Amino acid sequence: MSVQAPHLFSSDFLWGAATAAYQIEGAHLKHGKTLSVVEKNMNKNYADPSIASGHYQYWEKDIALMKELGLKAYRFSISWPRILPDGRGKINQEGVDFYRKLINKLKEYEIEPIVTIYHFDLPQCLQEEYGGWSSRKVIDDFEAYCQVLFTYFDDVNYWLTINEQSNMFQLPYLMEFNPDIPLEKQKYEMNHIMTLAHAKAIHLCRTLLPNAKIGPALGIIPNYPASPKPEDTLAARHADEMRTYLFMDLYMKGEYRPFVWNYLVENGIEPTVEPEDMTCIQSAKPDFIGINYYQSRVVKFIPEDADKKELKLNYDGQDDDTQYDNTPGLFEGMTNPFTPKTRWDWEIDPIGFRYILNELYDRYQVPLMITENGLGTLDELTADKQIHDQERIDFLRDHIWQLQLAIKDGVEVWGYMPWSFIDLLSTSSGFRKRYGFVYIDRDDKDIKTLERIKKDSFFWYQKVIASNGCQL
Ligand code: BG6
Repeated sequence: MSVQAPHLFSSDFLWGAATAAYQIEGAHLKHGKTLSVVEKNMNKNYADPSIASGHYQYWEKDIALMKELGLKAYRFSISWPRILPDGRGKINQEGVDFYRKLINKLKEYEIEPIVTIYHFDLPQCLQEEYGGWSSRKVIDDFEAYCQVLFTYFDDVNYWLTINEQSNMFQLPYLMEFNPDIPLEKQKYEMNHIMTLAHAKAIHLCRTLLPNAKIGPALGIIPNYPASPKPEDTLAARHADEMRTYLFMDLYMKGEYRPFVWNYLVENGIEPTVEPEDMTCIQSAKPDFIGINYYQSRVVKFIPEDADKKELKLNYDGQDDDTQYDNTPGLFEGMTNPFTPKTRWDWEIDPIGFRYILNELYDRYQVPLMITENGLGTLDELTADKQIHDQERIDFLRDHIWQLQLAIKDGVEVWGYMPWSFIDLLSTSSGFRKRYGFVYIDRDDKDIKTLERIKKDSFFWYQKVIASNGCQL
């Protein structure tokens, strides 16, 4: 059953889908590419990135499917170690050629490429050489990498600098930390360095590609108070400060929020800020902000002397091992009794989507692009090779419905890139947890045929795009 929606999406609205290099490409140590930090740290119980979805091999098939789906845009990331196997210096021509072919084909099919420069995949050699994001040396290397991309792919109109800077510091497999330095201190140093790298990318883009649009992609989770208790209401505000507005204000205003800065100083974990840093960041205002939205969170106040719990990767492969973000003295996440959950216990909250889009647009008055949104779940291939993923259709429909309400509220949104185009290696949960419109015939242990099979959601989204969001 489809639902008729009012016509609120502009005629040039970018209906798309998203992926990231290390999650789909495979060939992770082939054709000149070297290892990245995220590939090295992936959960060893799940599929490894050597094949992933086989996209390096089957990219043409995949783009043909995008055309069939009717995509107007495709968000993908370029792998830094595929372009620069030593992190800097010598360019891997085979890597450049791969992305060149991809972009050419997308353009031929009138699919707008939206390119993420950095999606968790720092070259491992830079981690070993100087500690990766903990050293300011990475800023020059990142800028040099951007220079290569802006030179070879100067026909790309939309760029995303860094994916989910906000989440990177919470998840141990996305970054490597030095055990000899206090963890919290390191996190905020790295965050500052990464913000400078993001700013340098924007400056360079303005010089080399003055007509292109560029912005970050941020993982956003709105926080609700667990109760009407004033302590919980403040806890929700503090969670937003620490997990969202810290990053948004740095990107959009080039400032540390006073609450966050004071918290960092009080705890002796403030980053080193050099004289020109804030000018560099302030003068790099993004054209738009990419929003990755999957869920909301409920938080309650927890006192200073409560235990600090670090988020862990579920090494035992159990997907019911829910963990809650916690910062003693400020807030701790907990379950929301009013929202349904995904199989992996993520809160399903389409109204939270409308809420946070309004909130961000009100505060920053900058166009938004939805760079990720989707349902990760188990999909079952039937004997006659079909995937009836009604749950995913419901999830996407409810979110698109709220998206159009946000547009009606006055929020400017350029596009919608659900996660993900094809099934891929989930960052936290391997191949069991699937997100795609297209099923990939493989599992964590067995490569199988890698056949591409269209799910029910593929045919549903095809109609959504063809009707410009009217037929949901
Ligand atoms: C985002 C990432 O955090 O969420 C993606 O940008 C990731 O890379 C997606 O795949 C879903 O998370 P997960 O852990 O379920 O794969």
